[in-house]
Amino acid sequence: MLSDLAPQPADALLALIKLHRDDPRADKIDLGVGVYRTGQGDTPVFSAIKAAEARLVETQDSKAYLGPEGDMGFVRGLMPYIFGADDPTRGGRIDGMQAPGGTGAVRLAVALAKKAGVGRVWMGTPSWPNHAQIYADLDIEMKPFAHATKNGRADMDALRVAVGLAERGDAMLLHGCCHNPTGIDYAPAEWDEIAALVADKGLLPLLDLAYQGLGEGMEADAFGVRRVLDAVPEAIVAYSCDKNFGLYRDRVGAAYVMVDDAALLPAVMSNGYALARANWSMPPDHGAAAVRIVLEDADLTAQWLDELGTMRARMAKVRARLAEAGRIGAIDMAALGSQHGLFSMLPLSGEQIAALRADYGIYMAGSGRINIAGLTTGNIDAFIAALRAVAG
Ligand SMILES: Cc1ncc(COP(=O)(O)O)c(C=O)c1O
Repeated sequence: MLSDLAPQPADALLALIKLHRDDPRADKIDLGVGVYRTGQGDTPVFSAIKAAEARLVETQDSKAYLGPEGDMGFVRGLMPYIFGADDPTRGGRIDGMQAPGGTGAVRLAVALAKKAGVGRVWMGTPSWPNHAQIYADLDIEMKPFAHATKNGRADMDALRVAVGLAERGDAMLLHGCCHNPTGIDYAPAEWDEIAALVADKGLLPLLDLAYQGLGEGMEADAFGVRRVLDAVPEAIVAYSCDKNFGLYRDRVGAAYVMVDDAALLPAVMSNGYALARANWSMPPDHGAAAVRIVLEDADLTAQWLDELGTMRARMAKVRARLAEAGRIGAIDMAALGSQHGLFSMLPLSGEQIAALRADYGIYMAGSGRINIAGLTTGNIDAFIAALRAVAG
């Protein structure tokens, strides 16, 4: 039976990492990988996390099982940041559970939606490729609509049409901030409209917040999630700490559920626990425990927010420098200046992407997605010059 299985394509980005690793050119540029990099090209452990890990090693006296909900100190510690410091449970209507990374949280969110009767998820595309894989794996139908217009704005017309076509009881997945892969986020007024549309139509919002703090700041990046939650009776939020605490491989995330009637929340959460039991039983502890320690300590919290601010400022600087390049052929580089987060998309053809790789050692996803944090003061001019040569 096993030998009848058809081979699956390798993950394109992992294949790109290998190609880049094997390229001997000293001035090669990696814009493919999806992690933050410093101006020196490193992805260091946050010093606030290092300090929390040291404390964890010192004080942890057992590694006995926790439970499918994971570390609830971690889960609750994040809530004021996501839902607002003023009544983060919204009158006891929100609770959460730990999940293995944002991926585990998205998987749990979609599985819970399906269990509640959702058959279709509407989503702006392009999106993080794993969204579609998770829908396919859970056998839930995806209804795509265009996320962005050709001139680099959120495509509100496409979203309005999608909501018009959707049926009550469908779900809609929305990126909370730092849209992956386009970097194109909704403006506050657009969030107001989306919240009203979704609420009027009776759609279940699935809010994916994987980059809080990497856009405009922890508060500003939560705006959309909070606006939608203000408008609807029920929602699920999938959260990742893997970017904003730099914990990628430790797999730190959480899924939150908001219900209309607080009395029904324990029953809803029990369905989340049952899904977790059947998937991973319990989430990995270490990274979440380190985040909890950071959030419990005012000094470590300040240190973490400071480190996050440094990351955000560096990405804003790179974006501003790219925006200065103006127009390069069909590419409006100025648009990159107002986009958010690690990623943006360049409208390049397959040939142009291949030429950038072959002739200039510049590696990016086949979609034209670039990781802004792969650019440094040392390579950004060479990148812009190569773009002019290939696409100008
Ligand atoms: C939009 C989006 N959601 C979720 C995730 C999952 O993040 P994690 O690495 O925590 O699983 C990612 C990661 O790239 C993402 O871009």
